[in-house]
Amino acid sequence: MTSPRDSPTRPPAHQAVAHSTVERQKRAAARAAAELVAEGARVGLGTGSTVAHFLPALAARGLRELRCVATSPATAQAAQALGLAVVELDELGTVDIAIDGADQIDPRGWLIKGGGAAHTREKIVAAASRRFVVIASAEKAVPALTPPVPVEILHFGARTTLNAIAPAQLRDAPDSPDGNLIADYLGTIEDPEHLASWLANTPGIVEHGLFAPSFVSDILIARDSGVEHRRGAKGY
Ligand code: 5RP
Repeated sequence: MTSPRDSPTRPPAHQAVAHSTVERQKRAAARAAAELVAEGARVGLGTGSTVAHFLPALAARGLRELRCVATSPATAQAAQALGLAVVELDELGTVDIAIDGADQIDPRGWLIKGGGAAHTREKIVAAASRRFVVIASAEKAVPALTPPVPVEILHFGARTTLNAIAPAQLRDAPDSPDGNLIADYLGTIEDPEHLASWLANTPGIVEHGLFAPSFVSDILIARDSGVEHRRGAKGY
C-alpha cells in the first residue's frame, strides 16, 4: 500500500511529525473506527496506510457475517489474508458503513483523497455507503486544502485533458485497476466546491480526489490527547 511518505498529497513539510507518532495516531483512529462496525454489516474498506491499521482491528473484533467491499486490489488482498470476506460492490448494493483514510481534511469537512490513487473506487463506495467514516492522524487536519488534487483520467487525449486543467502532471504511478492514468492537479484551491465542479465537468476526467462534506458522516482524527470525533454533513 502507498506510504504517506510517498504520497504526493501529504501535508506540507512544516507539519512533519515523527513517523512513530503518526503511525500510533493512525492505529488509534483505526481502532476507534473498528468499534463502529456492527455484526452482519456490509463494510466498505478504503485504501492506504491508515486503512492498513483498520483491517486487523476489524478482524480482531471477530464479528460474524461481515461482508466487505475493497476499494483496491491491495486492500482486497490484505483483508482476505485476515479472514475477512471480500465481495463485489454490486453483490452488496448498499454498504452499511465504509471506513477510509484521507490526505487532507479541512475545517468544513472537505477532503482530498487519492494519494494512493484509489479515489475513484473510494468515491463510488463512499456514495454507496449509509455511513462514511474517515480516519486520520492529526497532521491530516489542515486549515485549508492545498494542491495537489489527484485525478484519474482516460488514456485517450490525456495530454489534452491535462492541458485543460493546467497546471497538472501525470503521476509516476501504474494505471488504476480500471485501466486509467493517475495525474495531479497542481493549481491553487480557492474554492473546493468550484474546483470540484470544474474538474468533474472536464471531459477526460474519470474522477477527482475532492470529496465534498456531503459524502462524510464521521471524521475520527487521532491526536496524542485522544481521538477527536467530528460529525460530517452526511447523516446515517
Ligand atoms: C487512497 C487514499 C488514502 O485514503 C489517502 O491517500 C490516505 O492514505 P494514508 O492512510 O496512507 O495516509 O485516498 O487513494
